[in-house]
Amino acid sequence: MNILMISPGYPSQMPAFAEALAATGARVFGIGDQPESSLPDRARRAVTAHLQVRDLWDEGSVIGRVMDEMRKNGVRFHRIECLWEPGMGLAARLREALGVPGLGYSATEGFRDKEVMKRRLDAAGLRTPRHAVARTKDEIRRFAGPIGFPLIVKPIAGAGATDTYRINSKEELESVLPRLGHVESVSVEEFIEGDEFTFDTICAGGRILFENVAWYRTKPIEERKHQWVSPSCICLRDLDVPELAGGRKLGRQVLDALGFRDGFTHMEWFRKADGEVVFGEIAARPAGANLVDAMNFASEVDLFRGWAEAVTHGRWTQPFERKYNAAVVGKRAAGNGRIRAIRGLEKTLRELGPAIAAVRMPAIGAPAGNWRRGSPSDGFVFVRHPDFETCVELADRVARDIEILAG
Ligand SMILES: Nc1ncnc2c1ncn2[C@@H]1O[C@H](COP(=O)(O)OP(=O)(O)O)[C@@H](O)[C@H]1O
Ligand SMILES: [Mg+2]
Repeated sequence: MNILMISPGYPSQMPAFAEALAATGARVFGIGDQPESSLPDRARRAVTAHLQVRDLWDEGSVIGRVMDEMRKNGVRFHRIECLWEPGMGLAARLREALGVPGLGYSATEGFRDKEVMKRRLDAAGLRTPRHAVARTKDEIRRFAGPIGFPLIVKPIAGAGATDTYRINSKEELESVLPRLGHVESVSVEEFIEGDEFTFDTICAGGRILFENVAWYRTKPIEERKHQWVSPSCICLRDLDVPELAGGRKLGRQVLDALGFRDGFTHMEWFRKADGEVVFGEIAARPAGANLVDAMNFASEVDLFRGWAEAVTHGRWTQPFERKYNAAVVGKRAAGNGRIRAIRGLEKTLRELGPAIAAVRMPAIGAPAGNWRRGSPSDGFVFVRHPDFETCVELADRVARDIEILAG
């Protein structure tokens, strides 16, 4: 089996997926803007060949290059995989041009364009926030009436809560509008007050082979407010509790309505205080920000392999047990410039002992990320525990007791 994988070297999760694909026995052909020699080791070893293109977003010329290479080398692709949001459209165009099964362009739009997504779900009778797409500031003002305050304004194809604003009143709207200058068109939505969760799946042939629900201890929209926030997200051990039933049902209905069949999905949903469940958004790729690792720690499973087997052989072969609630806690450097110290790490590791599943800290001297612009946190700590409340406490201790300093 030959698989064309877009960008096997970037972002940081991709080499693990490329390696898992190769481990199924498939031949992995990479395409990206990096030269093969600068791919991370794991990705370089995983690929049979790697096609470097100058501009990955020049779809026409990329498709032409791929077709040339196929002719020259007598290769045919059985699947085209992309797990990186910006490449989803290219993957779809390539599938259509080469007659490869999987999500086509229109189906992909249902996972990319937040307005198309919600329109399709509305048509299927599913609960989405009241919404409209606005192309001018006047349109935003006009739609605010029927949608009502609080509302949220966000990019149609955004990620990482960038340029996303909660707006509580007409006056606040006027103060935010000037900041939207560089956004061409935006989603205007009813603000849903409630807990925020994920619904993640690996599917094959339209069947769910693996699922996960994580609770955003820190809501993504809150992460952007203060540097000192340590964003944390907890993969839940017990999915069969009544509080999650509505979200899991909605998740299944969304996958059906959008026609998803094979691969990873990452959905976000809300549960209001009165129990009502409301859709947030969905992507046809895994969650970012180390959530896949947290899922692996929760169930002692290898979802890189799970995904690879699903998309190559359409099956699930790993035994696993949901043993833990597993949290990933991001740590962001206080200050700008270079990382100069990490405080409280040894003590916390000693105290939490076996509850620590993994620690990833930046090297001293490494540049600190820009959390305001949505860089991932500088460090990550994974903690896990069979008991949910205990897991929350552990995550909070990591949030409180470990500090990364830059400057
Ligand atoms: N309608 C909404 N009601 C409440 N919060 C929202 C709404 N839409 C977005 N948010 C908040 O903003 C965050 C980012 O929005 P989202 O639609 O998920 O875009 P992104 O692609 O940036 O993740 C969400 O995780 C949530 O915290
Ligand atoms: Mg989101």
